Amino acid sequence: MTTFIVLLGPPGVGKGTQAKILAETTNLAHVSSGDLFRENIKNQTDLGKLAKSYMDKGELVPDDVTIKMIRDRISRPDCSLGAILDGFPRTPAQAEALEAMLAEFNGQVDAVPYITAAESVLVERTGGRFTCRANGHIYHQTFNPPKKNGICDIDGSELYQRDDDKVETVTVRIRVYLEQTIPLVEYYRKLGKLIEINGAQAVEQVTKDLLAALKK
Ligand code: AP5
Ligand code: MG
Repeated sequence: MTTFIVLLGPPGVGKGTQAKILAETTNLAHVSSGDLFRENIKNQTDLGKLAKSYMDKGELVPDDVTIKMIRDRISRPDCSLGAILDGFPRTPAQAEALEAMLAEFNGQVDAVPYITAAESVLVERTGGRFTCRANGHIYHQTFNPPKKNGICDIDGSELYQRDDDKVETVTVRIRVYLEQTIPLVEYYRKLGKLIEINGAQAVEQVTKDLLAALKK
């Protein structure tokens, strides 16, 4: 038996924050497409160079390379029981590809928490975000500050601001989300898998709501 949970929601709503907590509580792997691209950028791979040219503009990386990257990732042993998917799928073509690849592993998408918040909240959260260079741990200058300025509490690595968190790029990312990802809300609702979660609450309350909804 496998468990695959897809976290759906706009840029900055808290998918990564919640995915890390859920992965720890459920022992499922955390698979973040954005983190995988950022790792490729850091390692200066061809995929990283390609991804950066889209990410810097706030646009989506093409479906074919994104699907292949996720396929490789969920084929790894730590996903044998399933995973929390954070940021994938993001287009109808990716959702269909996911269904096909999970069927190969005798699995399926089990639940799709859809986390929402107003645009002003998304801008405030991305604007104050700091990310850890080594492992992508997530902080916020006001809502979740590190103990020591500029240093990750967990692994001591440097914290940086993502290039795509400039307000102009966040605005593009929100528009791209509304155009290309919102159709997935109806797609998963029709399949009876969508669970709506209010993301405009404190981190701990969002986690409580997620765990309660996933238990059902
Ligand atoms: P990606 O890295 O996935 O970015 P995103 O979806 O835009 O989402 P974010 O990571 O910005 O936000 P989040 O929801 O994870 O929020 P977080 O927990 O960090 O994608 C980046 C780019 O990669 C895309 O633009 C695209 O180019 C490419 N890409 C990725 N996947 C792709 C795909 N499938 N197909 C094609 N291209 C793809 O929280 C945000 C901030 O808020 C943090 O500071 C956090 O501390 C704070 N915070 C979180 N929760 C709360 C709370 N409840 N209260 C207060 N503060 C909070
Ligand atoms: Mg994220």
